[in-house]
Amino acid sequence: MPGLETRITFFRGCQLVDIPKITDPRGNLSFIEANSHIDFDIERVYYLYDVPAGAERGGHAHKALSQLLIAISGSFDVRLDDGLSEVRVTLNRPFQGLIIRPMVWRELDNFSSGAVCLVLASHHYDESDYYRDYDIFQKAGAQLR
Ligand code: TYD
Repeated sequence: MPGLETRITFFRGCQLVDIPKITDPRGNLSFIEANSHIDFDIERVYYLYDVPAGAERGGHAHKALSQLLIAISGSFDVRLDDGLSEVRVTLNRPFQGLIIRPMVWRELDNFSSGAVCLVLASHHYDESDYYRDYDIFQKAGAQLR
């Protein structure tokens, strides 16, 4: 896994992004601005929380959606798969985000107790944007390559 830099493209356009951190004895503050720290408009925000030990989230890819994932609290692992190869990334800092691009299958697991995954998304929720069947995703990806 690459070290922390401002923006590292490491897998099918997916990027690790440093998020500004304003340190303060009263507590730290981080912020994200659309089309600055991330290269898309934010149309939707959602978050995963109260994830039971051993549970997995994700298990799908998107046709057009880009997302930024942040471990706002605790940690979890993200497995990225383009249909040919895969990488695994651990997110465990509220000042680091992972941009996941379209046509990348993602699975989230190994959630720590109390972990919260914040997601900033480029589009509203649209079930027709999902690939939820891995074989169909893989065939669609192969046609694009
Ligand atoms: P899903 O995207 O599969 O969850 P995850 O990838 O985080 O494991 O969504 C789970 C359910 O929640 C599914 O029924 C669709 C619904 N959902 C919405 O209604 N709006 C949303 O913004 C999201 C992300 C999911």
